[in-house]
Amino acid sequence: MSHPITQTLGPILLLDDLSDGRMHLSALFIAPLDEEPGPIDLPSGPVAPIRIADYDEAAIWRARFALPSDRSSTYGWGGFEFAVAGDLTGDLRLAYVSCNGEEVGDMDREGSERNAMWSRLRDEHHSAPFALLLHGGDQVYADEVTHGHPLSEDWPDSVPEAPDAAQLADLRHHLRQRFFARYAALYAAPELAWLSARVPSLMQWDDHDICDGWGSLRETRTRSEVGQVLFETATEAFLLFQQGCVAGDLPARFADPTGAHLGWSVTAGGLRILAPDLRGERDRHRIMGPGGWAMIETEAAKPATGHTMLMSSVPLLGPRMSLLETVMMAIPSMQKYEDDLRDQWQSRAHRTEWRRILRVVRDMCRAGDHHVTALSGEIHLATRAVMGLGGGRELHQLVASGISHRAPPKGWARFLGMLSWLGEDPLPDHPIRIKPLPGQRHRYAAERNFLTLDRQGDRWSARWHLEESGTTPPLSIGGIPSDPGPR
Ligand SMILES: [Fe+2]
Repeated sequence: MSHPITQTLGPILLLDDLSDGRMHLSALFIAPLDEEPGPIDLPSGPVAPIRIADYDEAAIWRARFALPSDRSSTYGWGGFEFAVAGDLTGDLRLAYVSCNGEEVGDMDREGSERNAMWSRLRDEHHSAPFALLLHGGDQVYADEVTHGHPLSEDWPDSVPEAPDAAQLADLRHHLRQRFFARYAALYAAPELAWLSARVPSLMQWDDHDICDGWGSLRETRTRSEVGQVLFETATEAFLLFQQGCVAGDLPARFADPTGAHLGWSVTAGGLRILAPDLRGERDRHRIMGPGGWAMIETEAAKPATGHTMLMSSVPLLGPRMSLLETVMMAIPSMQKYEDDLRDQWQSRAHRTEWRRILRVVRDMCRAGDHHVTALSGEIHLATRAVMGLGGGRELHQLVASGISHRAPPKGWARFLGMLSWLGEDPLPDHPIRIKPLPGQRHRYAAERNFLTLDRQGDRWSARWHLEESGTTPPLSIGGIPSDPGPR
């Protein structure tokens, strides 16, 4: 279960920001307490990592440095040279992954089976390197961190009413250690480690980075003292291991330096990547809070050219879930799934807010010579959707999930496919349609998967990489009317 740290893990490259023609990077290291990771070697001189956090058996170190963002380059560490395909000005390639784990027993899975799709992603990088690796949520499955401590053992079914300060301090230590163990195990996996040293990552969180259904659970749980310690330790671990920073020292791409929400954006050479925070401000009645809305509306008002990749950790476009929700709420044994459905933009509880975000995204798409593609994970299936914008233009949504989470039963995928026949049009005149991936018969592919995005000239295309069915033909997402496909 526990993975002792016997040697330094890293470097794990994280993109802090794009500015001044440079990629501002963090290299993260997880090192035994008595080891100090060596410096990043650059032509301009060495950059020594600094120690940013301690756990019982290891310390977290980080070096911030910059590489060009208009050409490929290299950096050195530990006597090795690492190539970084950092040219964001011309043709480029991105990878998108989500759901790197499972709710139960993920730490005990056999590595080569668990990481089979990571291995394939590594092979893809060998054939044509990625400039950036986008992680769309559930980078870690923390569901079991609450086990093994008397205060959180029954989370979220029940929480103690008045735990004393010493008990809470003990819980904090327990949860910190458990988060640490999961992240250390992820970054020790050779497939992910190899890629992470060569491709800068950009990450946004979803519920499992905190706990199953965070934000959709009852407020008596999330606002309890135990719930708050869980959220604080999850946030600390998310910042350390997914952003290479601590609170108060967020990279410049974050919209709110205080971290009240953790939305961010980066822009370079006709590409904007926009990642609102759909978890940090969420409660049962809203998906985004004031900070998140301010960020997305500010971004939408900016003049943009080229293409925006909008990372929506839960799918922005989906089938008529509200119908399913109504049916399920009428059946007592199904009511336990309410939190899962409430997690979706399509929930009845979020309909007004869903229409608001769709209007913002529609207007973003309509502004000038500019295209928007939504990227989502979360459902452990691969699928796509389009929303008509008028004039032959469409908003594409590409769903790729999960890279190591195994797919749900094919029957569930077929059921969702049937549900999607109903269509959905939350905005008048902008129908949403779920469509099969190129070359696939069914709308939902129940296989592990990841997505690759290619820009050639000013045209973008996407391919899904499916564990059994292989790589799909490319889908053009340049905003020109897409292939008609089966409807
Ligand atoms: Fe997931």
